[in-house]
Amino acid sequence: MIAIACDHGGYQYKQMLMQHLKDRGIEYKDFGAWSEKSCDYPDYARPVAEAVAAGTYEKGILICGTGIGMSIAANKVHGIRAAVCGDAFSAKATREHNDANILCMGARVISEAKALEITDIFLDTPFSGDARHIRRISKIEP
Ligand code: RB5
Repeated sequence: MIAIACDHGGYQYKQMLMQHLKDRGIEYKDFGAWSEKSCDYPDYARPVAEAVAAGTYEKGILICGTGIGMSIAANKVHGIRAAVCGDAFSAKATREHNDANILCMGARVISEAKALEITDIFLDTPFSGDARHIRRISKIEP
C-alpha cells in the first residue's frame, strides 16, 4: 500500500500518478492536498512520512514543485529515507543502495512521462540487501 501526497505545485502530478497506480492495481491512500490552492508542503510530507515510518504503508510518494521541500521535511522523521529523483538511474539506485522508502519528485522539474517512469522503477525495484548497503544505511541513524 502506497501513501501519496503533494502540495499545490504537485497536485496535477499526484492526480496522474494515482490514476497510474489504480491502472496498475496498486492500492494507495491520498493524503492530500486536494486542490491547487496554495498550501505548505510540510503539512503533507509529515503525515506520509510518519505513516511509512510506522509501517502502515510500504512506501510513500511526495510531489511538490521541486521535490526538495518534501524530501527535507520527510527526512526529519526517524526511519525515513526520502529520495528526490529526476531520472531513472537514480530511482533504481536509491532503491537498490539506499532502500529509500519515499520517492519525492518535482512537478516543475520533470515531465509527466518521466514521473511515471521513475515511479514504476521506484516501486518495482527491490533493495539489493547487500551487506555494504545495510552497513551504510545503519550508519545514517543512531
Ligand atoms: C511551492 O511554490 C514550492 O516552493 C514547493 O512546491 C516546493 O518546490 C518546495 O520545495
